[in-house]
Amino acid sequence: MNDCTQTAKRRAVLRPEAREAPESGIVEVFNYGRNRPGLIPLWVGEGDLPTPGFIAEAASRSLAAGETFYTYQRGVPELREALARYHERTYSGSFSPERFFVTGGGMQAIQIATRMVAGTGDNVVIPGPCWPNITAAVGIAGARAVTVPLAFGNAGWTLDLDRFFDAVTERTTALFINSPANPTGWTASRSDLMAIADFAEKRGLWIIADEVYNRFFYDGYRAASFYDFVDRDSPILFVNTFSKNYAMTGWRIGWLSAPPALGQTIENLIQYSTSGVAAFMQRAATVALDDGDAFLDEQVTRARRGRAIVCDGLAATGKVRLAEPSGAFYLFFAIGDETDARRLALRLVDEANVGLAPGTAFGDDSGFFRLCFARKEDDLTEAVRRLSEWISRRFGSS
Ligand SMILES: Cc1ncc(COP(=O)(O)O)c(C=O)c1O
Repeated sequence: MNDCTQTAKRRAVLRPEAREAPESGIVEVFNYGRNRPGLIPLWVGEGDLPTPGFIAEAASRSLAAGETFYTYQRGVPELREALARYHERTYSGSFSPERFFVTGGGMQAIQIATRMVAGTGDNVVIPGPCWPNITAAVGIAGARAVTVPLAFGNAGWTLDLDRFFDAVTERTTALFINSPANPTGWTASRSDLMAIADFAEKRGLWIIADEVYNRFFYDGYRAASFYDFVDRDSPILFVNTFSKNYAMTGWRIGWLSAPPALGQTIENLIQYSTSGVAAFMQRAATVALDDGDAFLDEQVTRARRGRAIVCDGLAATGKVRLAEPSGAFYLFFAIGDETDARRLALRLVDEANVGLAPGTAFGDDSGFFRLCFARKEDDLTEAVRRLSEWISRRFGSS
């Protein structure tokens, strides 16, 4: 048997959850245009600022002090205390450090949360289009992600709650709520969240609340949160990350917030996956939380300016469908009546030298693109100029 046949045979016996894990449609376009000179990359979900020095220096100090050993699976006590302080400042009421678990990015928090509440034969209901890593994590856990489409109209992206609840079956074990949402910016109101929590309580469902963009909200200090009204022991698993607030996407550190009674289970799941996050990263994260408010405010201000540049600029072409998002840092928009966003995203790399993520990567097949506006004004202004020129070449000016 030659090598190829052997590999094919082995592949056939791979677990379907692994074999069928989808390739990310964002990464596909990113790889296509990665090294183009002068390309403005707006495809990935991160800003253009590096991690501030005061955060990075805390990691260097920790390394220099020899903090290079195995550490607490749940996170070092100082970081869990800083998380409690951050939550007390940001939301009302008190938070026990015992409810925080430090993870390898928000992504590992999603993995752990999903594995805790969904497995073979189960399904998880989620508004879509959504970040593909969420549906993929559900699939890898052996469960099925059932997406309920948000509607796009004059009011922007909206979720019909009756339709959302109708998607729940006896196989549903959890609702996954990402608000503010990637890629649409859809942001649940407090009354939406209350209705969802009430429904979940009545049906005995878990909620996984991905609130990583909670502070990237443009109609107030922060978006509504389940923390605003549920009691601390409610069956809600909160996913969060240092990536967005503190420009730390490459560090891979986040947190899961859950009722402390789940502590031993979560500790075990961390122990048998990463065994914990490096201590020096946790020192940096502690400083980020304690001293990073001004940096975070500046990032939100910058994103707000970025949002205005891309929304006003693209709306002026008269050829795009868009609604100004109230949260997160993405514009999800469509160009003309194009529906093949994957093909068009590749063309935009070649013909406009701008990198956008195709909506197909998020489960949308109606021609939308995601553009990340957490970037300096000059780049965004230039990207809008290039896109507008491309649009008028293709569709004529309005
Ligand atoms: C909705 C959502 N949740 C979670 C994450 C996880 O972030 P990270 O793994 O970088 O911490 C992201 C990152 O893009 C996201 O968009």
